Amino acid sequence: MKREFIDPWSSVLSEDYRNIIRKFGLEKFDLSDFPEPNLLIRRGFVFAGRDLKKISDCIKHKKRFYALTGIMPTSDKVHFGTKSVIDQMIYLQKHGAETYVLIADLEAAATRGVDLKEARKRAMQVHIPCYIALGLDSKRTKFYFQSENNAVRNLAFELSNKATLNEYRAIYGNAEPSRIMVSILQVADILHPQLKKKIPGVIPIGIDQDPHIRLSRDIASRAKKFNFIPPSSINHKFLPSLTGRLKMSKSEGNSLYLLDSDEEIKKKVAKALTGGQKTLKEQKEKGANPDKDMLFELFRHHLIEDDDKLRQREKDYRQGKILDSENKEYATKLLIEFMHDFRKKYEKAKKQVDKLFRN
Ligand code: TRP
Repeated sequence: MKREFIDPWSSVLSEDYRNIIRKFGLEKFDLSDFPEPNLLIRRGFVFAGRDLKKISDCIKHKKRFYALTGIMPTSDKVHFGTKSVIDQMIYLQKHGAETYVLIADLEAAATRGVDLKEARKRAMQVHIPCYIALGLDSKRTKFYFQSENNAVRNLAFELSNKATLNEYRAIYGNAEPSRIMVSILQVADILHPQLKKKIPGVIPIGIDQDPHIRLSRDIASRAKKFNFIPPSSINHKFLPSLTGRLKMSKSEGNSLYLLDSDEEIKKKVAKALTGGQKTLKEQKEKGANPDKDMLFELFRHHLIEDDDKLRQREKDYRQGKILDSENKEYATKLLIEFMHDFRKKYEKAKKQVDKLFRN
């Protein structure tokens, strides 16, 4: 499917990532610039970005920079794909980034009709503790709600005269009033840490969010008064859905969620798209294809840390030594182990959440 625009409100996207780099003028991610790469970086899932050198320089020379992400609390669950963003945040935090995580409650209200109170409840009970449980250091992360951050809202108003309708049409292909409001607010989210101190910032994103980065960079360079450094981004590929769609998303029935029960995991894995053959005999003879197998996608993105172990398993699957039933059993086991450990950390994190907002 060819598209002129990347639409951040759609979950459909061209699969040709290389094409995306060219078309949207992104930089290719250079692994050698980033020390101690995590699994997603090492395996090429982090594939592009903007102004990456600014960030790798800060890491190399231990200079101040920040990393920021936001989530819309449109659901009371966090899907597994979100882990990719948080893993990048954790990586950047470990390498010195000052970290910000915002709850985009105003955006959810404007674009999805989510009630602000409901949004707050979901964020406090689910989203924020899930992020901490994934490994973000809560003591070194500033969490905030868009609806409660005056500095961000004031900045959004000031920046609104730096955007034009034509620019909206060029970037998004569309200019609905609610989109205009939420995207300028998002620009303010992205730039506001620089109000205190001019330091580079990086936004880890799925590639569908690049239009927001472009808008932020344009506005940052036009708002001369503030002298903002245009934000950098690092872009990762999507975790495909278990049924083989390009992106795991909340709108799909078979999505994996971070607090899924053992039963849910078993059911979802059983229905996953595999790279196997139609019959057992055929699979033993011809082997199967791990590149078209959604469980291998999960192994690569999240579940198997050890590169040698992963490579061996891919080889065995390709040679017909591993059957789909065994592979599903293994995926179920790894997922259940992950979730049990995660659930413990989540329960612990939940107790800290109130403290984060006292002061
Ligand atoms: N638009 C993002 C979403 O759809 C949420 C968001 C708001 C955000 N402000 C941000 C993401 C700043 C990154 C940076 O979920």
